[in-house]
Amino acid sequence: MLQIWVVLSVYLSISALDNGLMRTPPMGWMSWERFRCNIDCENDSKNCISENIFRDMADRLAEDGWKEMGYDHVMIDDCWSSMLRDKVGRLQPDLQRFPGGIAKLARYLHDRGLKLGIYGDLGTHTCEGYPGTTLDKIDTDAQTFASWGVDFLKLDCGFLLMRTMFFCHTGYPLMSKALNATGRTIGYSCSWPAYRGGLPPSECFIMLPICNLWHITDWFFDNQEMLQPEAGPGRWNDPDMLIIGNFGLSVDQSRSQMALWAIMAAPLIMSNNLRTLSRGQGHPAKQRSTRTLWASREDACYRSHIEVYWRPLSQSASALVFLSRRQDMPYRYHTSLAKLNYTAGSYEGCSSFLVPFLVLSNHIVVHDDSISSSA
Ligand code: GLA
Repeated sequence: MLQIWVVLSVYLSISALDNGLMRTPPMGWMSWERFRCNIDCENDSKNCISENIFRDMADRLAEDGWKEMGYDHVMIDDCWSSMLRDKVGRLQPDLQRFPGGIAKLARYLHDRGLKLGIYGDLGTHTCEGYPGTTLDKIDTDAQTFASWGVDFLKLDCGFLLMRTMFFCHTGYPLMSKALNATGRTIGYSCSWPAYRGGLPPSECFIMLPICNLWHITDWFFDNQEMLQPEAGPGRWNDPDMLIIGNFGLSVDQSRSQMALWAIMAAPLIMSNNLRTLSRGQGHPAKQRSTRTLWASREDACYRSHIEVYWRPLSQSASALVFLSRRQDMPYRYHTSLAKLNYTAGSYEGCSSFLVPFLVLSNHIVVHDDSISSSA
């Protein structure tokens, strides 16, 4: 009873997040999926979590054409901080790996027209054991991030012992309020729903009004009617990082991820090694068509082993994604305009990824001989 009362009173005292940010889904680069918690700068200086890696990625975004495409955030994930707070209780970076401090790194990015994101974790510790943000430290940490010139906060609630409904439900709204109170506009990404396996209504009530992004899982695909309408300018369903360009991912798998993230109007946050990635326009994460896919907000899904996603675009156009979750062999998928809710007629089609795509008088045939299964 007490818990419900506290959660409700915290929630009601907070107005909806209105920081004016992320009118389109944010784009950028984040360290986690590619570089994890590698802190061994002595033996692996190129790949360890240090200011060098974030400066290098900023250079790549600025110089290789990514920034022009909209990829303008560089986001630090876990393992950036010292194991100890400073004398007055503020988070501080590990000074061996970030000798210039976070404010200097933020200036480096801002000078290049980029934005800096940072990672925090509600609880005593982060997932990797660094100092977390307990409820009494929320205001301090928000102020610290703002004083450094941080533009985006990914707030996790993942430390196993603290991953409780009560703690996370209380902490997220408080951080939203604390960020607003800093006077600096800081984008706010809430990871917590992912640990609940989805976003059931009880979670929506708490999370959606206060976050710019909320993490979603596969649960989303069976519950789109609930979550899809919640997304729009300033507020996005976030299926997490793009891992395009990483080890072991085929070109088809990369294209599949890009197509799906684009049609969902998801944030496009790459986690890969931009130093070694193709700089050409042909890279899946540089497909221009993604820009138009953001234009509108409604999705529909028709399920089989081939999933079909549809999204209306501007000027009476629409986007379709045919996604194969099959793991057997290439497959010829047959559908009709009627099944996809198109009126009869002829349509002009173009394919983003050169997969043969035919519209034959009311029938659509997708040949995926050229793409492997699970793509
Ligand atoms: C969790 C999150 C990851 C990453 C790590 C950092 O596992 O899901 O994205 O932030 O924590 O420890």
